[in-house]
Amino acid sequence: MSEKLSPQTRGPKNDDEIIQDAMHEIPYGIYVISSKDGESNPNAMIADWVMQVSFSPRLVAVSFESDSTNLHNIRTNRSMTINLLDEDSMDLARSFLQPTNASKIQGRSESNSNIRHDKLANIAYHLSDNGCAILDDALMWLELEADQFFEIGDHVLVVSKVIKGDINGSGEPLTSVLTGWSYSG
Ligand SMILES: Cc1cc2nc3c(=O)[nH]c(=O)nc-3n(C[C@H](O)[C@H](O)[C@H](O)COP(=O)(O)O)c2cc1C
Repeated sequence: MSEKLSPQTRGPKNDDEIIQDAMHEIPYGIYVISSKDGESNPNAMIADWVMQVSFSPRLVAVSFESDSTNLHNIRTNRSMTINLLDEDSMDLARSFLQPTNASKIQGRSESNSNIRHDKLANIAYHLSDNGCAILDDALMWLELEADQFFEIGDHVLVVSKVIKGDINGSGEPLTSVLTGWSYSG
């Protein structure tokens, strides 16, 4: 993730950095994806790369880092939920920035790298029929069944059938334009 720099603070750019800056302008919704592990414990992560890819059947694609704990769970039992956060949920979004497995962060000492971070510990949620988290403060949620997995570059694209969904709130969605967080480029 990188913060956006104003044109004034930019130095000379190479072609790759110019492409990266251009791609930072693509707006994204801020989603919390939830899965469950083999013992049915729910987990969650923040994601930008979410989009509908078919009307009939209703299919949604999410692109995951290949070492994501949530991807591992979804490969195992195909269950997931997607929660779209609302514009007042920056603090809620921050609760999901850490990986489940601290060893994913380079430079952590060996003792710290064994820490598993329970991102849902202090979050208000209930479980969907498929055992994944629906956040009480989500603007909308979808329950999905993962159907197809595609290895694409450095990510894995998961295409899922939409089983259920509802709107919880009445606000506007939280987006990368509001957070200034950029997962792109
Ligand atoms: C704003 C933002 C957007 C992100 N979007 C994605 C995404 O679309 N896909 C993804 O795999 N990771 C994304 N990440 C990174 C994951 O949230 C991060 O790798 C997390 O540690 C994965 O959690 P897990 O290892 O517990 O599954 C994003 C991070 C941030 C801060």
